[in-house]
Amino acid sequence: MEILTITGTKRKGNSLLAARYIAKNLDAEMEILNVADMKIEPCKACYACLFGQDCMIEDEVSMLFEKIENADAVLLISPVYWLDLTGKVKMLLDRMFMALPYLKDFRSKRGAVVYLYGFEDLRGWASNTYNIFLRVLGIEPLAVVGINAALPGEVLKNENVEKLNVIVDVIKNGRRIRSDGQCPVCLSEIFRQENGSLRCPICRSKLDINLNIINEGEVMRDEWMDEHYEWLRGMKRLYMEQREELSRLRDIYGI
Ligand SMILES: Cc1cc2nc3c(=O)[nH]c(=O)nc-3n(C[C@H](O)[C@H](O)[C@H](O)COP(=O)(O)O)c2cc1C
Repeated sequence: MEILTITGTKRKGNSLLAARYIAKNLDAEMEILNVADMKIEPCKACYACLFGQDCMIEDEVSMLFEKIENADAVLLISPVYWLDLTGKVKMLLDRMFMALPYLKDFRSKRGAVVYLYGFEDLRGWASNTYNIFLRVLGIEPLAVVGINAALPGEVLKNENVEKLNVIVDVIKNGRRIRSDGQCPVCLSEIFRQENGSLRCPICRSKLDINLNIINEGEVMRDEWMDEHYEWLRGMKRLYMEQREELSRLRDIYGI
């Protein structure tokens, strides 16, 4: 099995060790793509890639797709920084309209998220953004696992190794595992309160306080993604139609 591990930390610490442990126990070949070392420019929001054109930005983003093409499984193993994902991973995520031509192929790949954090009270919401990262590539995370490891090497403490074994298991068997407190549909760990029930911000499922499904949401599913890209292309066309009218608004306010 060929594994691609995506990470976004400069430290040769917990993420790297977690990746090595998982690959060794899967008896897999592993390549590591360290996003922190990549040249990544911000998305220009031109939508060219949504209309089948190559991205005009000259940087290293497209190498991600070649690497995923060659992998059977994609692991996203990366730390929490200030309650969120690390910066370069977000920059890469912002460019992922470019994934559109690859979605059909990538949907057959296995994937999982491991996020490392140093302080239980500061786990934040990185788990959800890392979850989204795989989903915009068309890969459904089979597990989203948070590991408390502050010092480099702590990821290999006993209780943490048990969590790494969960990842080994899901990638080996292709079976999804949901941890306590995760959305039954998409494994989100964060919820919005809405009129006495909970709303999952990723899949938009309506859940009760015990996370039982009241209405299952479909956002970020394959069919939804296909429709969303169609909608985005429609929005570009709409903008071209309304551009002059919108520009007149600017004139009214003199800005
Ligand atoms: C700049 C910075 C910000 C961090 N912010 C958080 C945080 O908000 N919450 C937390 O639990 N840990 C935080 N940490 C701790 C790391 O998530 C933790 O040490 C992790 O194991 C690092 O992974 P690595 O060894 O793979 O780089 C932060 C570390 C750094 C360097």
